[in-house]
Formats: sequence, C-alpha cells, structure tokens
Amino acid sequence: MRLDKFICKSTELTRSEAKKVLKSGEVRVNGEIAKNPAMQVHENNTIEIDGHSLTARRSRYFMLHKVADTICSNVNEVYPSVLNFLDVDKAFDLHIAGRLDADTTGLVLITDDGRWSHNVISPKKECQKTYRVWLRNPITTEKSVALIEQFSQGIQLQGESSLTKPAILTLVTDTEVENEVLLTITEGKYHQVKRMFAAVGNRVIGLHREQIGSLKLADLAPGEWRTLTEDEVALFI
Ligand code: URA
Repeated sequence: MRLDKFICKSTELTRSEAKKVLKSGEVRVNGEIAKNPAMQVHENNTIEIDGHSLTARRSRYFMLHKVADTICSNVNEVYPSVLNFLDVDKAFDLHIAGRLDADTTGLVLITDDGRWSHNVISPKKECQKTYRVWLRNPITTEKSVALIEQFSQGIQLQGESSLTKPAILTLVTDTEVENEVLLTITEGKYHQVKRMFAAVGNRVIGLHREQIGSLKLADLAPGEWRTLTEDEVALFI
C-alpha cells in the first residue's frame, strides 16, 4: 500500500498530517529517509517515525444495508454517504467494494483492504452479485424463456463495445405476468442492471442488491451494519 496510507493505518494521523510528517523527513523505510507519500510499502518493511516502529492496524470489513437516497462515495454530496451510517473510528478512510446508485438499496461491502475489494469488484474474479429487480413492464411467461436466454448470452449495452457477461435471470413467482425478477451478474458496469433492462425495452423501477458471492444481506435491517466474520472475509481472499 502507499506509505501515507500505511502511516494512517498505524497511527491516529490523517492523510494530510501523514504527508506533513513525511515532508519533514521523520519517516524511515528500512532505515532510509522516505518522503514520497506514494511510495509502495509492505507490512514486512520496517517503517519508523522518529525512531518508533509502526505496525499497521488490521484491515476492517463491514456489511451495510444501504437505504435509498444515500450515496456510495467518500464525500457527502446532495445525498449523504453511506459511510455516515458506520459508527466506527475513521469511517471515511474506508471505501465501498462495489457501488450502488443513490436510489438502489441493499447489500454494500465496506473495507480498507484494496486487494480484497478488488476480488469483489473485478469482472475477472467473476464474483456474482444478485439483485432483486422491479420492472415497469411485466414479463409474460411466454416471453420469459427468450429473455432468460438473451441475458445468459449477454446483452449489448448502449455505448459498449462488447456484450455483458452471462447473467442469470430468474422469475420470482409462477404467475402469468411477473414484474419482480432476480438478476445475477458478475460485473459492475455503470448502471449495469438498469441499462440491461433498458436494452431489452423495459425499465427498472426498483433495485435491491441481496447477495454478493455467497454473502447474503439476510435479516440486516435497512440502515444497519455489522462487522464481517473471519469466514465471511475469507470468501473474497
Ligand atoms: N446496476 C444498476 O443499474 N444500479 C446499481 O445500483 C447497481 C447495479
């Protein structure tokens, strides 16, 4: 990780305070003075401030049930960031592993471990994300077979050069017309689910993420959060 980040993780200093300390020449990496905040360091390096050796705090991992009218961002904008919900120290030093739109609700993973969030987000890792989707135009049983096939083959989104990766579309009930479906995808293109349904002439009117990999939101109430267990963290290592 970056040296300034390592300093923040192992002290009470903010990122700008860490940069000041670096500038002053008080930091040594493996015995050498280090001033570059972007220098890449590893926990095995000996990192000292003023002769005191630093040990990085353990990474933190949380799940949150995002409510509507909040944003997955590290700054508050028109809507507040989901990070405000986390009653933990330095919540704004964490980041969101896979953003949701302001009007989307559901499961959000939050961490300060960049490698872990990469495993959640990167399309190459093929981590499944399952969304419950409410549609403006109901899908008839008659049309559903072709649509399920189309989603599994990939959808051509507007402005994209390649098809989406295979997606699993499931109708929730056995009724004749269905406007509530489940969609499982393994990528996270901008507004992907909304654009996939737009591409087949429909419109998403409600969107809720229920599951990431085998991790489910389960009975976590809207706005609630909790620390992930070690086993849950290990799902994405
Ligand atoms: N796809 C979308 O369109 N929006 C989200 O928030 C998540 C996936």
